[in-house]
Amino acid sequence: MLDINKSDDYLSKGNNTVVCNWKAYLGVQESIDLASALSKWSRENEHSSDIIVSPSHASLYPVAKLLEGAGISLCAQNIDIEKPGAYTGALSADLLEEIRCKYVMLGHSEIRSGKSLGVPEDDSLISKKFAVCMRGKLNPILCIGETMQERSSGKTLEVLKRQTLVGMGKMPDKIPASKTIYLAYEPVWAISSNKTKETAIPDQINKIVTKLLDAVEKESGTNILSRIKILYGGSVDSRNIASYASQSEIDGVLIGGMSTSISKITAMLKEIEAK
Ligand code: PGA
Repeated sequence: MLDINKSDDYLSKGNNTVVCNWKAYLGVQESIDLASALSKWSRENEHSSDIIVSPSHASLYPVAKLLEGAGISLCAQNIDIEKPGAYTGALSADLLEEIRCKYVMLGHSEIRSGKSLGVPEDDSLISKKFAVCMRGKLNPILCIGETMQERSSGKTLEVLKRQTLVGMGKMPDKIPASKTIYLAYEPVWAISSNKTKETAIPDQINKIVTKLLDAVEKESGTNILSRIKILYGGSVDSRNIASYASQSEIDGVLIGGMSTSISKITAMLKEIEAK
């Protein structure tokens, strides 16, 4: 049985955050095998990174058990509702809290676009899920990112600002002090599964994030920088991880495809630890 009362004080000790987004790549047994291997690595290797793994819904519970005491946090890939009830097919925040899931990803571009679920999720729905996190124990990883078309038409900042401000319910100043808020900037055009993928240049990403934070601060009248951590996501691998993570505004990375094998994850962790 999972010890749901166990303290998770080991979290947020550190420097970089590494989120492994397993999307729907892995089966349940594959997720169990990978979580076991990663837990073993985390126990046996001195490291300062905050590691977060995000398995498919069906794999959450067995993975939660394997991560116990390994210094790794659990993240769901989305939520639907807050409380249990007559909501067939829905995943509730309560259920995630019961298995000591600490984080939930909101607004991943594959969900915003409708690619994952068949139905797109818009900023207003994402902001309702953000509010659920603010009321309960979950900490949101709010994903934002412009498409290639939006980028080509000069709308990058406008899109990111809207996704951030509307996603947070226009009230970053009302975020409870106990919350860890991650903003994951994942340009859609840089994600590895995108057929027309382009490479994101680390210092350009840093400049965009700087402009975004300035704009959000001005608009919300809040020192948002002190309240949130920034992740970069989009084709992160062992060759580029250190250059993204060493940018002044970037606190870590969100990794998709390259996070589904133990040798690739540990190669990236070694690089980020050495930077
Ligand atoms: P990628 O995915 O690392 O495979 O580009 C990132 C993401 O979509 O979260």
